Amino acid sequence: MNKPLSAHDSLQDAIASVSESLNVRMGQLLSAPESNSNTVISMSSKVEATADVNHVRGVELILDAMRYSTLSGGKRLRPFLTVCSAGLFGVAWESAVEAASAIEFIHTYSLIHDDLPAMDNDDLRRGKPTCHKAFGEAAAILAGDGLLTYAFQVLASSRVHADPAVRCELISNLAVASGCWGMVGGQMMDLEAENKQLSLEEIIRLQRLKTGELFAVSCEAGAILGKAPGMMRKLLRAYAHDMGLAFQITDDLLDVEGTRTETGKSVRKDKIAGKATLVSVMGVERAREHAKILTKQAISHLDVFDKKADNLRALAEFVISRKV
Ligand code: IPE
Ligand code: IPE
Ligand code: MG
Ligand code: MG
Ligand code: MG
Repeated sequence: MNKPLSAHDSLQDAIASVSESLNVRMGQLLSAPESNSNTVISMSSKVEATADVNHVRGVELILDAMRYSTLSGGKRLRPFLTVCSAGLFGVAWESAVEAASAIEFIHTYSLIHDDLPAMDNDDLRRGKPTCHKAFGEAAAILAGDGLLTYAFQVLASSRVHADPAVRCELISNLAVASGCWGMVGGQMMDLEAENKQLSLEEIIRLQRLKTGELFAVSCEAGAILGKAPGMMRKLLRAYAHDMGLAFQITDDLLDVEGTRTETGKSVRKDKIAGKATLVSVMGVERAREHAKILTKQAISHLDVFDKKADNLRALAEFVISRKV
């Protein structure tokens, strides 16, 4: 698991390397109750659980749904941001992967809930039936809840960092980015905006909350782990916000132009649902140009960092050229 990214790794190799460590660690964290040596069940409740077959069965069922959505597929962009930014400040690989696992749990929960019939009502995610199609709606809601809360349990553990103040800051920042002041607030605005005319500024604000805040905290997390100066943290957040907006414009472009096979999810949904996106307001060509400008701007925030930030630079280029 101990493979710091080399400056010579290509972006795809670097992402693969992070994904490999991440998948191993997330697999351990989500392993079945009887083999889970981590923090899923405390010793005392484990004893109770063995005595109560229904308890074990319930935990197994929900972990099964959590594993289904988390462990296969996914570009792992947010964990990659965390590991790359941690690398700028000499943070141990295991610490970065632990924090990155928590962030990917939150992201996966957001996808499970985003796909529910009451939200975007999608049947395909990461190339497979969505969680509610595979496990039923109630289990999908609970799998999302399980991942959301487990993320904070993971971050509270000393495996993330020896200093409790660092863990507390990560927990607090991730909560703000994911909750009503961040992703959840943005998702509500997104639903509210269906079939309404929104200005460019309003859409940018919506996207900043819906997608941008989780990208920003993913990137900042490495700097928090490395106790980096405030200015560095600000620059990494600025990079992630511009990159995140370019990423979301590309997601909206792929909804218009992409294929179900390549993206692994339904396409042409935004127009049918009357979603307000930068593509619906600017048109395809202007939106694509805007994403390119944002990418340049994102990269310019990294000027103070040396070659160690090359993977972050390459990632910004990748997110607007991707087909998945
Ligand atoms: C999809 O995010 C949801 C959006 C914020 C648009 P990703 O495109 O990063 O999804 P995965 O993790 O690769 O499946
Ligand atoms: C979802 O945005 C963003 C989340 C917070 C999950 P979308 O609804 O556009 O994401 P996709 O297209 O379903 O992946
Ligand atoms: Mg949505
Ligand atoms: Mg959706
Ligand atoms: Mg979309």
